[in-house]
Amino acid sequence: MAKDRYIPGLLVTILVLKLAYYAEARAKVPAVIVFGDSSVDAGNNNVISTVLKSNFRPYGRDFEGGRPTGRFSNGRIPPDFISEAFGLKPAIPAYLDPMYNISDFATGVCFASAGTGYDNATSDVLNVIPFWKELENYKEYQNRMRAYVGKRKANVIFRNTLYLMSLGTNDFLENYYTFPGRRSQFTVNQYQDFLVGLAENFFRELYALGARKFSLTGLPPMGCLPLERATNFMNQFDCVEDYNKVALEFNGKLNSLATKLNKDLPGIKIFSANVYEIFNQIIREPSSFGFEVAGMACCATGTFEMSYMCNEQNPFTCPDATKYVFWDAFHPTEKTNKIISDHLIPQLLATFA
Ligand SMILES: *[C@@H]1O[C@H](CO)[C@@H](O)[C@H](O)[C@H]1NC(C)=O
Ligand SMILES: *[C@@H]1O[C@H](CO)[C@@H](O)[C@H](O)[C@H]1NC(C)=O
Repeated sequence: MAKDRYIPGLLVTILVLKLAYYAEARAKVPAVIVFGDSSVDAGNNNVISTVLKSNFRPYGRDFEGGRPTGRFSNGRIPPDFISEAFGLKPAIPAYLDPMYNISDFATGVCFASAGTGYDNATSDVLNVIPFWKELENYKEYQNRMRAYVGKRKANVIFRNTLYLMSLGTNDFLENYYTFPGRRSQFTVNQYQDFLVGLAENFFRELYALGARKFSLTGLPPMGCLPLERATNFMNQFDCVEDYNKVALEFNGKLNSLATKLNKDLPGIKIFSANVYEIFNQIIREPSSFGFEVAGMACCATGTFEMSYMCNEQNPFTCPDATKYVFWDAFHPTEKTNKIISDHLIPQLLATFA
C-alpha cells in the first residue's frame, strides 16, 4: 500500500482514464433479447399450432406498413421501444419468423410466445411455446451466433446483451384461476413461490450461459384487464381487486428474487422493471394521459375479444386506438405500450447503457 503514494500523478490519471474507457465499452448494450408472453411476443406464435394468434388485421394496423406481425397490439410493443432507445432496431424480430436470419438476430431477437407462463402447465393450455423451450431456442441461437460472428465476439455480445423478461399473468389468469389442477396443489401464495422458483432457475441457467444484464418485468394490474372486468358483473364491471392484490404480492416476491440474485451471482445485474404503478395510474386516470376509455378495449366489443375473435369482420372496432388504454380484451394499445416504455427507458439507460 505504501508504494502507491509514489506512483506519479500522470500515470494514475492515465490508468483511471483507461479504466473508465473500458468500463464504458463493456457497459454498451449490443443487443436486446426477449423472453416471455404476449406482452412481448413479436410473432413467434405465427408458426406454431395454437389458436392464440394475431397475425391478421386489425392487429398491426398502426405498425409500420399497417402490417400484422403477430404482436398483440395495434402497433409496437415495449421491447421495440426499448431497443430503439438503446440505438438498436425500432422493432425486434421474432426468432421463428422465416423472414429473418441470424444477421437480423445479432442485434436483437424475441423468443417470447403469447399464452405462455413460468409454469409448464400454463403453456399447455393453449399449446404455445413453454418457457423452458424459449431457453432451448436461445441456446440454439447462441450456437448460430458463434458460427456467425466467431466464438470470442459472440461471448462478448451475450454478456453485454440486455435480456428482457416479461411474463406471469397467464400463470394466474389462464391457468391457476381457470383450471382446478394447480389450485388443488397450491394455495395462491404457494403457487407464487413455485413460479418464483422457476424464475430463479431460468436466471441461473441464463447466467451460466453468459448472460449478465436483465430487466425483469412483473405483473400489470391484471384485475383491470377488460376480459377480467367483463366477468366482474357483481361489482359493476370494476377491476377485480383480488387479482390486483395477487399481482402486487407476486411483484414483491420477484423484487426479492432480484435482490437475492444480485447479491449471489457475481457480475449479474437484474433490474426490477415494475410497471404496475404506471399502468395503474393510466387505468385510474386515463384522461391525464390523453385517453378516453380504460374499462373497455378498442377491438370489437372491447369486453372479451382477442386473437381470432378480434378480426376485420367485426364492425365495432374503434377507429382511433389512441383514445383507448387497451387494444383487445387482454393487451394494451401501442400508445399505452409507449407510455410504459418511456417510463422504464431512462432507468434502463441509467442502469445498462
Ligand atoms: C440474411 O438475409 C439477408 C437478406 O435477406 C442476406 O443478405 C444475408 O446474406 C443473410 N445472412 C445470412 C447469414 O444468412
Ligand atoms: C417442464 O418441462 C420440461 C420438459 O419436459 C422439463 O424438463 C421440466 O423439468 C419441467 N419443469 C417443471 C417445473 O416441471
